[in-house]
Amino acid sequence: MKAAVLYELNAPVQVEDVDLDSPKAGEVRVKIAANGVCHSDYSVIHGVLRSPLPVVLGHEGAGVVEEVGPEVSLVKTGDHVVLSFAPYCGRCYYCSIGSPVLCTNMRMTMGKGTLLDGTCRLKKNGKDIHHMAGLSSFAEHAVVDQTACIPIPDNVPLDKACLVGCGVMTGLGAATNTAKVQPGSSAVVIGCGGVGLNTIQGCVLAGASTVIAVDLMDNKLEFAKEFGATHTINPGREELVRTVRRLTEGRGADYAFEVIGLGKTIEQAYACTRQGGMTVVVGAPSREDTVTIPASSLLTEKSIKGSLYGSTRPRVDMPRLIELYMNKRIKLDELVTRTYALGEINEAMDALEKGEVARSVVVM
Ligand code: APR
Ligand code: ZN
Ligand code: ZN
Repeated sequence: MKAAVLYELNAPVQVEDVDLDSPKAGEVRVKIAANGVCHSDYSVIHGVLRSPLPVVLGHEGAGVVEEVGPEVSLVKTGDHVVLSFAPYCGRCYYCSIGSPVLCTNMRMTMGKGTLLDGTCRLKKNGKDIHHMAGLSSFAEHAVVDQTACIPIPDNVPLDKACLVGCGVMTGLGAATNTAKVQPGSSAVVIGCGGVGLNTIQGCVLAGASTVIAVDLMDNKLEFAKEFGATHTINPGREELVRTVRRLTEGRGADYAFEVIGLGKTIEQAYACTRQGGMTVVVGAPSREDTVTIPASSLLTEKSIKGSLYGSTRPRVDMPRLIELYMNKRIKLDELVTRTYALGEINEAMDALEKGEVARSVVVM
């Protein structure tokens, strides 16, 4: 089958034939229909997020289950599924307390670029190729853990449903699950890409009155308005913190979301947060990056909270998001600025880098 393989950092992705082993116990093979292009794929290509190489990229997919391995009970052949990039063991401490995104076994194997049992299903000339986030869905097929498969109704377009697999769940869940945004509140969202636009629509869905979108690119601020931002700030032209204060009765925002993945913009988000308010870090920074805050500012009861994958419990949240989409309560169609074929993945990465798209989707 064809898959998008990264052999070395900062080099073009190779779309080529690779081998895919059959699913083992608890695993299924999914025929991929579509896969969104996320900044995290770009970050792996450029070494900002680390992965063992070679690796097949892709972690925002949807498709149809075409083969189930032994001991599979959560899905069956023919099921339409959104792929969750946080498969979980169901047995560890974090799974037991209802935080499957922190699953100890998932985190151990994800760093190694394998499936949950510590081995790879992807091969080329007999040598292992690693998995990204337990999925590797920039490919015609993927073998994944059954807990990575979230069944959805057959009438949902898979080229939109795939977005729920990362950007929508990560961005919107940060507002509704992690921050639990309150009706009538104020929020700032720094970074209005494919993930940040979903944080904006999550704040709107939760009933925030003031939603301030921040981005260096004016086209992103236009998208942000379409997704419900009440105000926009381009920090290249306007002083960020002062403008946020002006829009929030001099206090700063109740919530400030950082959706870029840089220490510097996390510090800006913290500075935009009111006393007692919450800064939520959604972006995925490099391991070397750091954040410095004035220690005494903690006396104002401000908090900084990390958000991984929108604090999701995927089997609860993802079907709900799909239903909200089908009932026209959240937007997915408007996220997709462009579609590409798998062979055009490098063009898709260029468009992401240049900020030309809200999201692009590779359709198989
Ligand atoms: N100030 C304001 N906006 C910025 C800045 C900055 N200093 N730097 C970048 N941006 C904006 C870009 O213009 C772009 O619109 O941040 C946005 C990032 O959007 P995308 O590249 O589409 O990234 P996205 O896929 O949304 O991911 C954002 O979430 O999941 C993580 O790894 C992902 O860390 C990344 C973050
Ligand atoms: Zn992603
Ligand atoms: Zn677990």
